[in-house]
Amino acid sequence: MMRVIGDASGLRIVDAGCAAGYYSAALGAHAASVIALDASAEMMRLVEEKRLPNVLVRRHDLAEPLSWIADASVDLVVSSLAMHYLETWEGTLREFHRVLVPGGRFVMSVHHSAMTDPLVDDYFRVQRATDVWTIDGVKHEVSFYHRPLSSVINDVLAAGFAVRRMIEPQLTARAGASAEEHRLATRPWFLIVDAFRQ
Ligand SMILES: C[S@@+](CC[C@H](N)C(=O)[O-])C[C@H]1O[C@@H](n2cnc3c(N)ncnc32)[C@H](O)[C@@H]1O
Repeated sequence: MMRVIGDASGLRIVDAGCAAGYYSAALGAHAASVIALDASAEMMRLVEEKRLPNVLVRRHDLAEPLSWIADASVDLVVSSLAMHYLETWEGTLREFHRVLVPGGRFVMSVHHSAMTDPLVDDYFRVQRATDVWTIDGVKHEVSFYHRPLSSVINDVLAAGFAVRRMIEPQLTARAGASAEEHRLATRPWFLIVDAFRQ
């Protein structure tokens, strides 16, 4: 994502679904300003604690309108691995489009549709998928939304964005890689959409 975003110096940025603020911190160092938003109060507390320079922290559910951000006041909306928690994208993408300046960028990463495909009964239907992730030996049930690849792209286009490119990031395969690394080097797992406001 950072390579796709490139130089963000001097930009006004929204980090949509920022969690503990990795991108807000990395981009905020050189940006003009960052609005770090997330629905989770706990995540907002973690970002607040970091006292990041140039970063405004605000709890916000992306399913709701961003009415507190003015039209055409943002240069870059970054949303990393957050949009797949939303069932409906239309209103959220329309809001990203509204707050961006013409030509402003929208860079989003989501679970790849091929990654969520085995978790659902119908690839072609947007639907909730549940996976079990083991972290430090503890199993966690995690739910998100599967959407077919065509919906990912067509929803972005329908909101008025032009798609510059799609990236299917992969780890560089190397000898001695763990099973997890091998999977990330050989199977589609994430999808990055690099778009701009027309
Ligand atoms: C996997 S984390 C991604 C964090 C961060 N963007 C990153 O890449 O490091 C997903 C985040 O999306 C947030 N999220 C999920 N649904 C949301 C919603 N409806 N509105 C805002 N944030 C949401 C979660 O609270 C969580 O912090």
